[in-house]
Amino acid sequence: PATTALINSLPKAELHLHIEGTLEPELMMLLAEKHQVALPYSTIEDVRLAYNFDNLQSFLDLYYLGASVLCDEDDFYRLMWDYLCKCKEENVVHVEMMFDPQTHTERGIGFDVFMPGFARAMAQAEKEWGQSSLLIMSFLRHLSEQSAFETLDAASPYLFMVSAVGLDSSELGNPPEKFARVFAKAKELGLLRVAHAGEEGPPAYIWSALNDLNVHRIDHGVRSIEDAMLVQELASRQMPLTVCPLSNIKLCVFGHMREHNLLSLLDLGLMVTVNADDPSYFGGYLNDNYHALAAHLPITDEHIKTLAANSFKASFLSEEQKAHWL
Ligand code: ADE
Ligand code: ZN
Repeated sequence: PATTALINSLPKAELHLHIEGTLEPELMMLLAEKHQVALPYSTIEDVRLAYNFDNLQSFLDLYYLGASVLCDEDDFYRLMWDYLCKCKEENVVHVEMMFDPQTHTERGIGFDVFMPGFARAMAQAEKEWGQSSLLIMSFLRHLSEQSAFETLDAASPYLFMVSAVGLDSSELGNPPEKFARVFAKAKELGLLRVAHAGEEGPPAYIWSALNDLNVHRIDHGVRSIEDAMLVQELASRQMPLTVCPLSNIKLCVFGHMREHNLLSLLDLGLMVTVNADDPSYFGGYLNDNYHALAAHLPITDEHIKTLAANSFKASFLSEEQKAHWL
């Protein structure tokens, strides 16, 4: 139908994407071989079969395991390059990508390894086809406040490349307020702020992201619907929610795409966007997320256009850059 062609051809922005979550099984196996990293998979097929998750943690275990094959500058370049080529293919004209430094620094791989790799791919994509992209440095919330402060410190020579900080990993038991002081410091350093909240965690975690972390966007936020006061607050502030439909199904946040609340959130007047989260683990890049919604929810072409427009409105682009796409 018309919707399919519309989804593919519309210029879109992606605002919730973990670069480590774009590591395809093929590249994972290639790099495991290159660096002699032991993985519990013999074939590409084994890897895909293992991607069956019950919840966020069961995914995170394999996501951190997969990331252990990323060792040298060239690996990070290749990871980023492959994803940016995907953006070109899908008309994702602007992307705001999260990276998880602690996933690498905890293994002894420093900012001086991954940042130059990312930068080289981003500059090349910009030069070759005008790809717009920026980086969000995300703290692992299962680690301590002190580890987050150390990460912010270690990033200092590279902060010119970083637009914002984020908060990801195991949500339950690690509420946003645990990182209030880190986010205050990031704000002082001129960094913008986002946080995962209300993916598995309760509405209270979304309130905490707003009030204690001063965020500009909520990553996921689908559980906001359980709190009418919160919905009203998010709507009146037009606080963006970066919703990730395929992720939510793979991690059992909703039982089936038919039950996803994205359209309800949109109808409640919220600033909803569609995103891929960790495409290689969740079975699809950005356009696949739009297609999956269109296949299972009563979505019109107008909804698709609104969601694509929202992706620019909710971005960190300047008003002038936004106007170019709206
Ligand atoms: N890290 C990568 N993807 C994530 C997600 N969806 N939630 C929390 N942490 C993550
Ligand atoms: Zn995420």
